[in-house]
Amino acid sequence: MADIIDGNALSKSLREQIAETRHIAGVTPGLATILVGDDPASASYVRSKQRACERAGFYAEDVRLPEDITQAELEDVIRRMNAREEIHGVLVQQPLPTHINTEAVVAAVDPDKDVDGFHPVNLGRLMRGDRGFLPCTPFGIARLLSSAGISVSGKNVVIVGRSLLVGKPLALLLLAKVGPGGRLQETGDATVTVCHSRTRDLSSVTLGADILVCAMGRPEFVGADMVRSGATVVDVGINRVEDSTRPRGYRLVGDVMYDEVSEKAGAITPVPGGVGPMTVTMLLYNTLQSARNLYSQDPLSGARNESG
Ligand code: GUN
Repeated sequence: MADIIDGNALSKSLREQIAETRHIAGVTPGLATILVGDDPASASYVRSKQRACERAGFYAEDVRLPEDITQAELEDVIRRMNAREEIHGVLVQQPLPTHINTEAVVAAVDPDKDVDGFHPVNLGRLMRGDRGFLPCTPFGIARLLSSAGISVSGKNVVIVGRSLLVGKPLALLLLAKVGPGGRLQETGDATVTVCHSRTRDLSSVTLGADILVCAMGRPEFVGADMVRSGATVVDVGINRVEDSTRPRGYRLVGDVMYDEVSEKAGAITPVPGGVGPMTVTMLLYNTLQSARNLYSQDPLSGARNESG
């Protein structure tokens, strides 16, 4: 039976540390979340981000915009948030309605307030191994593994899913060189393979994984036959499946068939209570770092401001 990697417990202790650091630093980090439309899953994520901010002593602004907002209006809201001194993080919840150009929206966020780590400047920093905001889900996964005492260095990590929010940035983060000359911030030095819907004979690749990350957004897709005995399994999926026995009419499942895979894996993250809470925790961390001005660029010298 696999060890359970408890994202709730780690989140709780990290959030306490974040609240304490905020208090000692004497700053009130401010986060603006922007939600377009009323998709229930997105609304629920935004609510949990708002709640987590309030509990950590942050200022949180909850911006709700109509589904039919225009591109220009949305970018205008973002620019106004960028300009406000008490707002250190600007987050636009994805996915956005199909008439909106998501790429342009992400690029409209000030890279120094991009606490989601999605701006091309921050993705470029990640690619280069420079300091910058790390995307919250990959960052949370790296923290979860390191706090569970699971080093990725030299290991075969297989990531299933190549999204810009999870798969691709996670591959870069785990691949990053650690130690002298490399980024010091996070776990890295892994041998990384990224699989996707066109990967031939997926099981033959996943069976070679010491650490298997499932991030394709397909409910209970990964069964025990795809997992090597003793491997670490990280389940990034948060899928709502209909369940009339539940009061809400649905239940949450991951991308992994938990019951059978947990019999075979060495360690596993549950859904809910694994990666999910860590995403929100790293958002708090990024917002705190932003308020402490740790990742901002000095526009005149081009030098990094690492004061504090
Ligand atoms: N949609 C799914 N995950 C995320 C996230 O981490 N940030 C934002 N902004 N939207 C998301």
